[in-house]
Amino acid sequence: MLTGLMGAGKSTVGRSLARRLGLQFVDADDAIEAAAKRSISDIFKEYGETEFRRLERDVIARLLSEPQQVISTGGGAVMDPDTRARIKRASVSVWLRVKLSVLVARTERRAHRPLLADGDVRQTLQTLMAERDPLYAQADLTVDGGGGSPERTVDAIMAGLAALEPTR
Ligand code: S3P
Repeated sequence: MLTGLMGAGKSTVGRSLARRLGLQFVDADDAIEAAAKRSISDIFKEYGETEFRRLERDVIARLLSEPQQVISTGGGAVMDPDTRARIKRASVSVWLRVKLSVLVARTERRAHRPLLADGDVRQTLQTLMAERDPLYAQADLTVDGGGGSPERTVDAIMAGLAALEPTR
């Protein structure tokens, strides 16, 4: 289960981590869109963030009950206490930690994220970082996702997972 802020590279890294592990990959945001038959932007617009988090909670609970797979979550999934507890209990979680300047550069190129649609992207991400970093930090593993290529990041995750193994 990959967590981290918008722009951390969870989907890209998740896809290639799944290939490396020989597991299926699923993007929780895509699964939410499929379940709601609406885009994330439309869910926010029509129902608001609280309803989005409820949908997200249900979808992540379902994905975690399926056979083992690599799951990338939306950056805000950890804000919901139930989802957070479930991630802790039922997954190996990896925080893709990326510094602010890199997140800003990556997210400014794409316009589909409702939380970044208004206002200053840097300011918003900085606020979210302050709020969420302590929650992301509860992950089983923290890996720098801002340095090299996605494959390098996957190398670091694989090494981290191997180091976790003896204690699990
Ligand atoms: C969100 C992150 C998005 C998506 C939604 C809300 C957040 O996912 O779930 O727009 O609260 O950080 P990504 O992190 O994949 O962009």
